[in-house]
Amino acid sequence: MFKLTDEEYNQILAFKRDLHMHPELSRQEFETTRKIKTFLEALPSCKILPVPAPTGVVAVIRGSGEGPEIMLRADIDALPQTEEYESPWKSQTPGVMHACGHDFHTASLLGAALILNRMQLAGRLKGTVDLVFQPAEEGTTGARMLLDAGLFDWIHPQYCFGIHNWPSVESGKIVCNQGPLMSAKRNFDILIHGSGGHGSMPHLNVDPIVCAAAIIQSLQTVVSRNTNPLDSVILSINQIEGGSPMNLVVDKVSMKATVRSLSEAALDRAIARTQAIVENTALAYECRSEIVWKERIPSVFNTPEMTTLARTCAESTGCQVVDAPPSLASEDFALYRAFAPSFFYWVGSRSPEETKTEELHRPRFHTDDTALRYAAELYAASACLG
Ligand code: NI
Repeated sequence: MFKLTDEEYNQILAFKRDLHMHPELSRQEFETTRKIKTFLEALPSCKILPVPAPTGVVAVIRGSGEGPEIMLRADIDALPQTEEYESPWKSQTPGVMHACGHDFHTASLLGAALILNRMQLAGRLKGTVDLVFQPAEEGTTGARMLLDAGLFDWIHPQYCFGIHNWPSVESGKIVCNQGPLMSAKRNFDILIHGSGGHGSMPHLNVDPIVCAAAIIQSLQTVVSRNTNPLDSVILSINQIEGGSPMNLVVDKVSMKATVRSLSEAALDRAIARTQAIVENTALAYECRSEIVWKERIPSVFNTPEMTTLARTCAESTGCQVVDAPPSLASEDFALYRAFAPSFFYWVGSRSPEETKTEELHRPRFHTDDTALRYAAELYAASACLG
């Protein structure tokens, strides 16, 4: 396998820093998409496929021999946060920040494209490599967008690989866990319909705010009373909206919530209990309820067979291969597992000199960019299986 040259490393480092300065939110990654295409168009062996999605890039490098088709996926979007970490490449877009390091993933996959392009030109690439730069991972709708755009009509991978930088692990280490790595989840909206009126006449109104308060309190029992303590389940009401500054009872309260678990069975149970509690509590308060369930995202699950393959790839980078505790964060990379055996790596991204971890989605989040090299070589090694 080829290694990233120093010149190539500097090229992807500059690309990453440029993306970091100019982050774009989910489904608005138009400039990011343009920059990725420009980068790939300079590689003679790389062909961009016209998958009809408004943002994101899918490209292919075809080798010259017999070998499997392998998909490598990076995500490209940023978050609505204000960056507080000072650096010469701090975000220049107010209120938007690459706080999850998707700029790191994008640059790493471009680094792999540089390596694989050189291999192809030297006649050393056997199979086919699909490069998927996925939009809108935050909010976990981008994988679905690509699937609906016919991604797997254009490419037919036998394996899929993805990475996430992992700031609680030092750079130079790669996490290759077997089993559930990241959480299954289902987001949902709750609507409580009451009957509004003058606040002086509570007997003539049905107040959805009191009902919403009871629902929020009761939903806490899904984790505390309905979940096996050995399973990890989270149920959070993340937003509540409703009310009036006047002495007025309103008609409606809406909430946004998420329920998630590393265990699909525990998530099934939590969803069923949530449905029952919302419906029946609303009835008890003479309200009408609606739950709008969003697409269920499965857990990121690394099978024993894929873990064996992935460990070999990780070891070939010279990095230390380690285990780490799984995370209740979710990843829509999990949706690709229905189409091909998949593996998800975490690439250590905290500088060994830093003792304090700035976690993902924090305003002072940042990556140790020496790890870009390891991530690029890891992607490339994963593309050269078989
Ligand atoms: Ni992320």
